[in-house]
Amino acid sequence: MLNDQEFKNFSQIIEQYAGIHMAEGKKALVEGRLRKRLVALNLETYNDYYKIVRNDNNKTERQLFIDLLTTNETWFFREENHFNFLKKILDDRNPQQPMNIWSAACSSGQEPYSIAMLMAEERELSRPWNILGTDISNKILTSAKKGVYLKKNIKGLSKTRVRRFMLNGVRSMSEYLAIVPELKKRIDFQPYNLTSSPLPSIKYDVIFCRNVLIYFDNDTKKKVIDRLIKALKTEGYLFTGHSESLHGVYDNLKVINPSIYQRI
Ligand SMILES: C[S@@+](CC[C@H](N)C(=O)[O-])C[C@H]1O[C@@H](n2cnc3c(N)ncnc32)[C@H](O)[C@@H]1O
Repeated sequence: MLNDQEFKNFSQIIEQYAGIHMAEGKKALVEGRLRKRLVALNLETYNDYYKIVRNDNNKTERQLFIDLLTTNETWFFREENHFNFLKKILDDRNPQQPMNIWSAACSSGQEPYSIAMLMAEERELSRPWNILGTDISNKILTSAKKGVYLKKNIKGLSKTRVRRFMLNGVRSMSEYLAIVPELKKRIDFQPYNLTSSPLPSIKYDVIFCRNVLIYFDNDTKKKVIDRLIKALKTEGYLFTGHSESLHGVYDNLKVINPSIYQRI
């Protein structure tokens, strides 16, 4: 059993390293997810595990801990109006103009691959567009890089897109689809912590930071948004999840609609 103090201890670590705020009601979730590590390490109590995770030198276990406590739900073309808006941005631009897009909490890759599919539809593959996909969880990034999905889990993808952008698995992989290599190689996947990693060296035309701000408290959310604004080009766009409207006052951000913002 995870007691209240142990829950508090784990919550402090995940908040300190990932900015994720664990509400009281998440105790059963934390207990269930961390139990796997107690079993794997043959530990008797959650406190034994806490002693390992709080050790700053044990980066491997700290990463596994973060992997377990992040929520990675995602699907292709989630919140479709953002993709319609992206299409509109592309329509208004010269196709020769380079376009850099950052999917800043990309989970298992459906978001950056959806962006890549739209880019391939609207711009040829030979055009100068690039996508960066980042996430704090190494485990989920590994599956994003693979770009292989169970056929029954491709919610959001039309048949036309499946035909154009996915390859059918054969033999033992017959239940899977894989993203075509031409698209895969357009995405650079990197580990990145929104609260603390150094800002990327280039500025972005569009940043997707969706369905991750809900896990942060207001101060962390403000800090993350201020950092992302710095990573945006002037007139670049920031997309947040539909339930993550930015109520605070942000210098330089114009509200286009409650989940689309433009740096001015
Ligand atoms: C629910 S998924 C959202 C995926 C995708 N953006 C979407 O909207 O479908 C949230 C992702 O945020 C990541 N995440 C959580 N805290 C993070 C942080 N501090 N820095 C970077 N990524 C983080 C998690 O690992 C997870 O993959």
